[in-house]
Amino acid sequence: MTDDKQIAVYGAPPADVVELAPGATQFSPLMPGAAALEQQAEGSVKALTMLAPPGTLERRYVIALALRALAIGAPFTILAPNDRGGTRLRKELQAFGCVVEEHARRHHRIVTGTRPALLTGLDEALTNGAPRLLDDLSVWSQPGVFSWDRIDPGTEMLIEHLPPMRGRGADFGCGSGILAHAVLASPKVVEITLVDIDRRAIECAEHNVADPRARFLWADVRSADLADLDFVVMNAPFHDAGAEDKKLAQSFVQRAAQVLGKGGVCVMVANRHLPYEAILTPTFKRAELLIETGGYKIYEAHK
Ligand SMILES: C[S@@+](CC[C@H](N)C(=O)[O-])C[C@H]1O[C@@H](n2cnc3c(N)ncnc32)[C@H](O)[C@@H]1O
Repeated sequence: MTDDKQIAVYGAPPADVVELAPGATQFSPLMPGAAALEQQAEGSVKALTMLAPPGTLERRYVIALALRALAIGAPFTILAPNDRGGTRLRKELQAFGCVVEEHARRHHRIVTGTRPALLTGLDEALTNGAPRLLDDLSVWSQPGVFSWDRIDPGTEMLIEHLPPMRGRGADFGCGSGILAHAVLASPKVVEITLVDIDRRAIECAEHNVADPRARFLWADVRSADLADLDFVVMNAPFHDAGAEDKKLAQSFVQRAAQVLGKGGVCVMVANRHLPYEAILTPTFKRAELLIETGGYKIYEAHK
C-alpha cells in the first residue's frame, strides 16, 4: 500500500531549536507558492512541525487547521518564542483536546503530541480566525493580515496626501488593498499591481479592490517580476518576522527605483525614525519630503 500522506512544515522553525524532516511541504501563507492548510484534506498529513504565529486568533486558527489536516495519531511539534505566544501553546493545544508534552529551548516553548481522535473547540477557532467582511470599515480582512482590524494611521495619512497617479504602477506590500483602492480613484491610472508576500492579504485585496485595472501578485517585492512602471506607492514594512528590519524597508525603496521607468514616481509613507533619506537620495534623481507629522513622513521620489 502506498503512503500518500504529507509531512508538513509551517513557517521557518529555527534549526537550532527543532529538527526538520526532509521533504516537508511548506504551508505558511508568508512563503509565496506554499500550499494552503485551509485547502488540505482532513487526515492527509502524517507529521507536522509548526512555528506558530504570535497573534492569538491567528495562532489558534492555524493550529486548528493543522489539527484538522493531521491524521489521527500523527505526531506534531508546535513551537513559538516564549514572548510571542510560546507560553500559551500548551494550554491552547490542551483546549483542543490534545495530550501534550512541553519543552523549553533557546527562549522557545516546544509542544509535542499526537492528533487525538476527538478534537474540541475547533469550529470556534476556525470561525474566529477566518477571513471576514469588517462591517465598520467595509473591508475584507483576516487576523494575521497587517493591521487587520483597523486602518493603519500611516496608510490613512498617505491616502489623505496622495497625489493623483497616472499610467501603470504597483502597490508594494499592498496588505488588504486599502491604499491601492485609493490610487484607483484617479482615472488616469491604467493598471496597478498589488504585491504582497502574504497570501491572505492578496486574497482580501481581491475582495476589496474589485476594479478591472487591478492585478494581484502573491510574491516577494524584492524579486517580483515588474518593470518600466510609471508609479510605485507603498507603506513599506519595517518588520520581518516581528523584528525591526530597516534593510527590508530600504530594499523596498531600491526595488521601486529598479522597476520604475524614466520619469517614474515613488510615493511612500514611512515611520519618522527610519533612515529613508539615506537610501532615497542616492537611489533617485530627486526625493522630496512632502509632509512630516504624527510620527510619519511622506516622500515623493522621482527617477
Ligand atoms: C506596513 S504594511 C502595509 C499594508 C498596506 N499597504 C496598507 O497600507 O495597509 C506592509 C505590507 O508589506 C508586506 N510585506 C512584507 N514583506 C514583504 C515582501 N518582502 N514582499 C512583499 N510584501 C511584503 C506585509 O505582508 C504587509 O502587508
